[in-house]
Amino acid sequence: MQRKTEAELMIDRYQAVAYANADFSASDDSFINRLIWFINQSGNSPLAGDFLIVDLGCGPGNITQRLARTWPKAHIFGIDGSQAMLDIALERKELSKEFFGNIDYFNLDINCLVNSNLGLTNSANLIVSNSLLHHLHDPQILWKSIHFLAAPGAIIFFRDLQRPLSIEKALEMQKMYVSEAPLILKRDYLASLQAAFTIDEVRAQIRSGGLDFLHVCGFQDRYLEIFGRYNHVDGRLS
Ligand SMILES: C[S@@+](CC[C@H](N)C(=O)[O-])C[C@H]1O[C@@H](n2cnc3c(N)ncnc32)[C@H](O)[C@@H]1O
Repeated sequence: MQRKTEAELMIDRYQAVAYANADFSASDDSFINRLIWFINQSGNSPLAGDFLIVDLGCGPGNITQRLARTWPKAHIFGIDGSQAMLDIALERKELSKEFFGNIDYFNLDINCLVNSNLGLTNSANLIVSNSLLHHLHDPQILWKSIHFLAAPGAIIFFRDLQRPLSIEKALEMQKMYVSEAPLILKRDYLASLQAAFTIDEVRAQIRSGGLDFLHVCGFQDRYLEIFGRYNHVDGRLS
């Protein structure tokens, strides 16, 4: 199946509410568990003392809040270009201030990140994103963001959908995973599957983005994961 892009930002309030109300807890929990597994594997963790985590395309904060609970001493930046999503993230933060005081949310389009004045240049020790890549019309934006944000030794962990081979397979997955969901979420899910990349496409992207150290692998039947550690050696990667 050919890739068919979808809108980048989820700016519609109904769309944001439908997304926020959906139960993604199993995959969100597994995202954190896989991240911790990867950090433990990679040894010599940079996540000690004061450290900075950036969650790109944070949406309503599903992953951001889990990061805050896992690392209560970290400073966490959740970045999204949809105010509708961030309004929900901020409401959720307000409801449990005692747990989420270490999160700051920013309304920023990732396409503008490298020219932003958030003060994040080469300062992030952990960069994550969940289900952002397939939204981007130009995926290199995400790979450039890593060069911009990563501190030496930063951990990178992204998860996204994999594009199925055919529209029939995509419709089957829509039926399997969101048949009970509101129409708007079903529509978005199908559009996301069509907009997603294949593992080979992502491998090619990271090669041309100068990020050969990143690994790409499939996870379960519908996801791909991208992970690695960023090293600055003489201004180059190793
Ligand atoms: C499918 S949601 C995932 C939200 C969240 N990461 C999660 O796991 O629940 C994708 C999010 O990426 C955001 N997004 C897409 N393109 C973006 C861009 N260019 N800049 C900033 N945010 C973007 C959307 O607005 C949306 O909130």
